[in-house]
Amino acid sequence: MRALIAGNWKMNGLAADVERIAAPLAASGPPAGCDLLVCPPATILREVGRVLAGSAVALGAQDCHPAPSGAHTGDLSAAMLRDAGATWVILGHSERRADHGEGDALVRAKAAAAAAAGLTPIVCVGETEAQRVAGEHLGIVRGQLAGSLPDDFAGVVAYEPVWAIGTGRNASEADVAEMHAAVREALITRFAGRGAAVRILYGGSVKPANAAALLAVKDVGGALVGGASLNAADFLAIARAAPRA
Ligand code: 13P
Repeated sequence: MRALIAGNWKMNGLAADVERIAAPLAASGPPAGCDLLVCPPATILREVGRVLAGSAVALGAQDCHPAPSGAHTGDLSAAMLRDAGATWVILGHSERRADHGEGDALVRAKAAAAAAAGLTPIVCVGETEAQRVAGEHLGIVRGQLAGSLPDDFAGVVAYEPVWAIGTGRNASEADVAEMHAAVREALITRFAGRGAAVRILYGGSVKPANAAALLAVKDVGGALVGGASLNAADFLAIARAAPRA
C-alpha cells in the first residue's frame, strides 16, 4: 500500500505564502512510493494548484457543505472545491467537530457529498484525552467510524487523537498500533475486502524526528500533518520517512 502524506494547513496561509511552501513540493514531487497531498485554506486553493500544476502533488480542501448548492452563507460545496482544483477533502476534523459542533451524521453526509462531486474524502476520527484516560478510546473511535462513513465509502480514514494535535505529544507506537488495528478490524467487518484496502493515516504532532517510527507501525498508511506541513523541508522529510510501497 502506498503511503499518503497529507498536509493540513488549517487556518494558515495567505497568497504571499503560497510560493514559499508549495514551490519546493512541486519541484521535489512525491518521494518514490509515496503520495503527497496539500490541503490549504480554500481562499488560496487555486493559487496552490497553479504552483503544483504539472507535479504529482495532489490538492485538497479542509471541509465542505453536504448540500450541492443553495442558501448557505459562508459555506462551500464540494463542487466548488472541485471547481477550484481540489480532488481531496478533509472531513470531520476534531477542530470542526469541536469548533462547529459537527457530529457523525453531518460528517457522513459531507463524505457522501464529496464523493458525488468527485472528491476523495479523508474522514477524521479520534478520542479526547479524557476519553482515553477513561479507557473509552476504542469505543469512541469505533462509534465515530460507524456514524461518519457512508455505506459506499471509498476514501481514507485519519486517526488523530485530539490530545496529540498541536501539542508536540504524539501518540506512542503502541497506542497507534492498538488503534489502527481496531480501525482496520472495523473497516473489514463493515466493508469486507474494500475495508482492507482503505489507507488509515495517523495524525497528531507528526514531525521529521518521529515520522519513520510512526509510519512503520502496522496498518499506518500515511500521516495527516498539521504544523510541520507549513514548512516544505519538514513536510518532505516526513514523506521521505515513509516506508517504500
Ligand atoms: P499537528 O501536526 O500540528 O499536530 O496537527 C495534526 C492535525 O490536526 C492534522 O490534521
